[in-house]
Amino acid sequence: MVGKHVSISGMSESYEIYRGIGRLVTLRAAAEKGARRVTEADLSVIEKAAIVSRAGKIEWLGPETDLPSNHAKARSHDLGGATVIPALVECHTHLVFAGNRAGEFERRNRGETYQAIGAAGGGILASVRATRAASLEELVSSAQKRVDRFVAQGVGTIEAKSGYGLSVESETKMMRAAQKLTRARIVSTFLGAHAIAPEFTSAEEYVAHLMREALPLIAREKLATRVDIFLEKGYFERPVARRYLEAAKRLGFDLAVHADQLTLSGGADTAVDLGARSAEHLVQIGPPEIAKLAASETTCVLLPSADLYMDCAYPPARALIDRGARVAIATDFNPGSSPSQDVSLVGVLSRVRMKMSFPETLAAYTIGAAYALGLEKQTGSLEIGKSCDFAILDGSLDELFLEIGRAPVSSVVVEGLQV
Ligand code: NIG
Ligand code: FE
Repeated sequence: MVGKHVSISGMSESYEIYRGIGRLVTLRAAAEKGARRVTEADLSVIEKAAIVSRAGKIEWLGPETDLPSNHAKARSHDLGGATVIPALVECHTHLVFAGNRAGEFERRNRGETYQAIGAAGGGILASVRATRAASLEELVSSAQKRVDRFVAQGVGTIEAKSGYGLSVESETKMMRAAQKLTRARIVSTFLGAHAIAPEFTSAEEYVAHLMREALPLIAREKLATRVDIFLEKGYFERPVARRYLEAAKRLGFDLAVHADQLTLSGGADTAVDLGARSAEHLVQIGPPEIAKLAASETTCVLLPSADLYMDCAYPPARALIDRGARVAIATDFNPGSSPSQDVSLVGVLSRVRMKMSFPETLAAYTIGAAYALGLEKQTGSLEIGKSCDFAILDGSLDELFLEIGRAPVSSVVVEGLQV
């Protein structure tokens, strides 16, 4: 398996005590339930708490009155009664790209469809032209600003997809840019199968090229731990997608699928059949897919800001959750279908448009999202032995996912250290 434990600071020597936590929202019970059917009680709140972190991991946590006295050598931080939650996990972004597609947004609002703009050489291919022309340094510098914007909102882990290069050279440039980002844990996903590269005439031909030239190289150079595909009519359809994902799986990659976003194309079905970690979007699924996802280990990643910008339906979150599926939420931040990094917007849309409860929303943005990335043993809840990744709020818990444009977060700790 390609580099599973993703670390931001290497082996940190840090030894820290965080005291004076007014409310520590651990999500321990939500994690124990596999992030399914999360209730208020599963937030597992400890009042007046403390956390001891050593070498990036939680060594102890509990009520401050029970704090063992053998931690005199640790550096002590007083959080002054603040509420602490697990750092958010942003599990679906197209973080690295150049240019913008503001003009395309205007065209969609005037009636052109996403698919028609794409078929005419715009859409994803417009971002491909800009990203191919950008230097590694330009990509790192714009992406680092985006990382910082996420971190300021309480995010500690960010997934970053490639997919705007569509050539071995430009795709590897995107993934190398992702590797240079700091201040958050970055999980790199290869999305070479995002659109058919302009140099190829068919999906079959392009995918054969990716299987021959790209996948082995990416595995060898550890440029990504996951492989994703846009499984959609007119992009990569089911048979070719299946062959590609099977090849990626044989090389040890975790699988993700952009599934059933624009049309019902067999994405969710394929994701579950191949044991993908996640099936993402799921706007078009119906009762058979809901039942199949609910009975599987595949996490359903819902991306409501993309649905807002695309002015389409929202995925059936209520049915998924009630049937027992594991759900995650994310921004899908990208220059086309979701040009927003606002985690509050995602939370508010999850609550208003998908009728998710507050505990379901918070769990979906933490432990559910950690599952989507295969990091459920490492992050997403606050428990002894896990990475010490948390966000310190500057408001009360119920001010989270309330005000679009503002996350009530004062700072973020990743692997025990403030970032
Ligand atoms: O997740 N739909 C496929 N991929 C992206 C959009 C990428 C783009 O439009 O640049 C998505 O919505
Ligand atoms: Fe996406």
